Formats: sequence, C-alpha cells, structure tokens
Amino acid sequence: MKVIICEDAAQVGAVAGAKVAQVCRRVGPGVAIGVATGSSPLETYADLAARVADGRLDLSRAYAFALDEYVGLPQGHPESYAEVVRRTVTEPLKMDPARVHAPNGFAPDLAIAGAKYEGLIKAAGGIDIQILGVGSNGHIGFNEPMSSLASRTHKVRLTPRTRADNARFFEGVDQVPEYALTQGLGTILDAQEAIMVVQGKGKAEAVAAFIEGPVSARMPASVLQLHKDVTIVLDEDAASLLEFTDYYRHTYNCRESMAQFEEN
Ligand code: GLP
Repeated sequence: MKVIICEDAAQVGAVAGAKVAQVCRRVGPGVAIGVATGSSPLETYADLAARVADGRLDLSRAYAFALDEYVGLPQGHPESYAEVVRRTVTEPLKMDPARVHAPNGFAPDLAIAGAKYEGLIKAAGGIDIQILGVGSNGHIGFNEPMSSLASRTHKVRLTPRTRADNARFFEGVDQVPEYALTQGLGTILDAQEAIMVVQGKGKAEAVAAFIEGPVSARMPASVLQLHKDVTIVLDEDAASLLEFTDYYRHTYNCRESMAQFEEN
C-alpha cells in the first residue's frame, strides 16, 4: 500500500482529488468511480467539484457506485445513502443521475438486490477507482469486523459502535438503522484502484492496525493489503500511531505525490 502522510485534512483532500482526477483522465469519459459516504471524503469531493466547476474535469458521462445503503429507511429519507451521495457527491460533481447507482437497501429481497448490484458494476466494466473511508472499528463500506474477506454485496447487521458513530446524522442512536446492504470486501478488492482518506486521532488506532497489523477479518480494512494498487492518504493525527512513518514519508512524499498525480 502507498501511504501518503499529509499536513492536514485540506491537503488530504487535495492529494486524493488529484489522484481521482488522474484516473478519470486516464480512463476517459466512461470512468466508473466508487464513492463512499461519511465525513472523511468531503474535502476530496470538494476538490473534484472545483475541478468540474472550472472545466478541468468533466464527469457528465462517468458512473458512480455507492459502497452501501441502510436497510429500513423509507426511500428518499435525507440520511439514506442514495440521498447523501446525491447531495454531497454526484450533484456537486455534475454527474448524470442515470449513471449513479447505490445498493437497493429498500428492496424486498436483499439477496437479489445484492446480486443485481454486482451485475450493474460488472456491466459498467468494473470500478476504476474506489474512494474509501474507514470506520473507527476498521470497517470499510459497512463490512464490520469478522465479515468474510471474500464477500460480495450482502446484508449486514451494524455493530453498536457503528450505530453510535453514525448517531450524529440522526435524532438519536435508536433512529440509526440496524441493518445495511454493502458491497463486500471481495467487491471492493475487484476495483482497479482504491484510495482511502482518513483524518483525525479517532481513527489512528484502526489506521495503525490495518496498515501495519496482520490481514485479518478482525480488521476488515486490512484486506486492502492484498490489493495491487491502493493509496492511503492520512493527516498527521490519523498517522500518529504508525511505526514506519520514516519509510512512508521518504517513499511517498505528500507534495511529490500530488505533483505526480497532476502530471499525467
Ligand atoms: C460509515 C460508512 C463508511 C465510512 C465510515 C466512516 O458508516 N459506511 O463508508 O467510510 O463509516 O465515516 P466517517 O468518514 O464519517 O468517519
């Protein structure tokens, strides 16, 4: 994994935006972008939105695939991930709503909905770059600890910790759905490239464990160690418990990486 340590959250967003834009240029108009919800990638989306606004980037024919969706919310609920993605990602990026997809957590049969979602991703030629955040317990998408490392899009039961982390978006923890439909870890591993953005001390333990610890279902994000092309962009706080920081700073310098992403 390429681990880039940046000064602050704004720099994390700028580096990640540059990386995603590079992939978009390379793949062309039909690029398929995997998008994560949560606060972590907001600066990345802001960076991309600025590129779209001033004409450096055109995503009008690109595809977006959300990582996950709650189960049990009414369709159109403002905190459903379909709505969050529309509001925070695909509208600011001026993407075509017809090319924006999320797992259908509202479907009566979630197994069928999961299989359909896998089919939609396949039909778009697979995901070219997957944008990721990480939960404080090491989840990616909604793959909670002890999820299968080979899983495909499936229904999960959220842990009390995840529901507590996400209670800030609802009126209370009781309002946070108990279940979700998420891309599996196997689905995420199929993306051509992945980029994870992480900020803040609250994630430092999970970051140290999944980057430098063993690959284990205990820490779902550690499965990324098995991916051939992953970039992890961290601010100083998120990186604060890593051991090999000298190596990362020397090998994947933040400013040099950004310049390289902007070049080609
Ligand atoms: C959420 C989402 C993840 C996200 C993570 C971290 O529950 N399912 O896709 O990466 O938790 O969220 P945040 O970036 O807000 O800390």
